[in-house]
Amino acid sequence: MKTFIFTLTTALIAGSILYADDERYERAKPYMSENSKAATLYKTECGACHMAYQPEFLPKRSWKKMMQTLENHFKTDATLEKEEYAAIEAYLLRNASDAKPVFGDIGKIGRKIPAEQTPLRISETPYFKKEHREIPKRLILQKEVKSIANCATCHTKAEQGNYSEHTIFIPNYGKWDD
Ligand code: HEC
Ligand code: HEC
Repeated sequence: MKTFIFTLTTALIAGSILYADDERYERAKPYMSENSKAATLYKTECGACHMAYQPEFLPKRSWKKMMQTLENHFKTDATLEKEEYAAIEAYLLRNASDAKPVFGDIGKIGRKIPAEQTPLRISETPYFKKEHREIPKRLILQKEVKSIANCATCHTKAEQGNYSEHTIFIPNYGKWDD
């Protein structure tokens, strides 16, 4: 019985260490983007050229500015029909980093943006840059990735809002161990 309890305890501890990371993201989920018509619309429209980035990454002021400049959106035209525009803007604003509690590393990215800054890029925020500074440039510029904005080429579960370290797999490099 003692051995059994010992084995069970060891297994539980090992298991929880291994999955603590994923669990953190699972626990944060109820606070992540809603499941609604607007969410689906957002994924279709704003996910047409790149991954539909989770609104939790940026504050309201960033999304407002982004929505006001869609006709020149990173040198592309991302304008929307009037009704879709209103639904998507409202969705972004109610799920922004400063609109509700956002946990884990996603929350940290939003919280560490200085109040006087209104970034349009998640990839240019201070905590994002800190987390990605050790990745060699050639791994980002290679044709399989092209841009640091292509989150899902390395974060295999990015679309589900899971950025935990053991879900990272960089093309022509492999798993990320730091
Ligand atoms: C016509 C194509 C297109 C559409 C539609 C589009 N985008 Fe983009 N978006 C781009 C391009 C191109 C970039 C720059 C990507 C890069 O640097 O690799 C970009 C970048 C971004 C970034 C910054 C990524 C980073 O570096 O952190 C955000 C945020 C973003 N888009 C949000 C949106 C939102 C919100 C919508 C919907 C309203 C949208 N996009 C629709 C083309 C598009
Ligand atoms: C070239 C591959 C690559 C791309 C592209 C990339 N990341 Fe990462 N990301 C990493 C690596 C590697 C780490 C782990 C850094 C570390 O902890 O040493 C990381 C860490 C993170 C973390 C912190 C995870 C944690 O739990 O510690 C977040 C959040 C994140 N990335 C979000 C993004 C978002 C959002 C994008 C797109 C705008 C993106 N990443 C694009 C490779 C990438």
